[in-house]
Amino acid sequence: MALLYITRKEHFNAAHQLWDSNLTEEENFEMFGKCANPNFHGHNFDLFVCVKGEPDKNTGLVMDLKILKKIIREQVTDELDHQNMNLDVSWLKGQMPSIENISIAIWKRIVPYLPVGVKLHKITLWETQNNFVEFFGEGL
Ligand code: NI
Repeated sequence: MALLYITRKEHFNAAHQLWDSNLTEEENFEMFGKCANPNFHGHNFDLFVCVKGEPDKNTGLVMDLKILKKIIREQVTDELDHQNMNLDVSWLKGQMPSIENISIAIWKRIVPYLPVGVKLHKITLWETQNNFVEFFGEGL
């Protein structure tokens, strides 16, 4: 059977600050640039959730993308949209809200809700027009 990869894109706006309390102010700005600004700042995040599976014999679909949309919104974007990711999101508490760490957390939140036979393949999270992260679940 053929194995295919399908992707749903979702979007959210959220605020964060990247700050390591073990570093000096100068070192923080050296490491994180404007993302270290003390009073938080926002990004327009684009999230791509890619799953893989074989198309169903009857429907021809790997998975109903309406269902994937619902999972992403309920588990991730409704929770993050217009929130401060340092302060407001229980499942990001105690973590540096970098796109790396956010992607790992998103992976863990989506996996339990996928239908039988469908596997999460990749989380892609764009923070700016130039910077994005891809996570394949490796090392979990
Ligand atoms: Ni930032």
